[in-house]
Amino acid sequence: PRPMTLTRPLVLVGMMGAGKTAIGGAVARKLGVPFLDSDEELVRAANRSIAEIFERDGEAFFRARETEVISRLLDGVPAVLSTGGGAFLSEANRAMIDEKAVSVWLKADLPLLWDRVRHKKTRPLLRTDDPLATLTEIYNARIPVYSLAKLSVEARAEYSIDTMADKVIKT
Ligand code: S3P
Repeated sequence: PRPMTLTRPLVLVGMMGAGKTAIGGAVARKLGVPFLDSDEELVRAANRSIAEIFERDGEAFFRARETEVISRLLDGVPAVLSTGGGAFLSEANRAMIDEKAVSVWLKADLPLLWDRVRHKKTRPLLRTDDPLATLTEIYNARIPVYSLAKLSVEARAEYSIDTMADKVIKT
């Protein structure tokens, strides 16, 4: 296929476990543009894990740094940017993303998300007595917000990373 040029950054949004990081990396590789990950940049800048940032500085601090990082990353060369699952919730972030980029919602259903996050210890928001109930609540609250993204691509358990990346590019 003819390589397409990216005129604006592509920003992947959606729940934790939807595959934003893995699929974003594959999309960037296929398009020959840089891949950026806001969580990864935050971890690098703070020299601490996401869970540690939440624990020591709180979620509000994390969200403020997240907005700064996304703003900076959107001002560079057009790239594929994967964001943390909460990034699109802020209206200011959405406005910034809409102005400078194209948002793509990786839309996965709850059983798939749960299957992917249940054994991981990296998500501070799921450190509760009943992580499935917490994930369900977060999911239900966020669906209407994610649906504000410009584009959406359905993620399914049977779709490989490569297949998902092709779907994102075609959309
Ligand atoms: C969050 C998702 C995480 C990370 C933080 C908060 C969220 O990113 O930013 O734990 O609010 O959904 P992933 O979506 O990459 O797991």
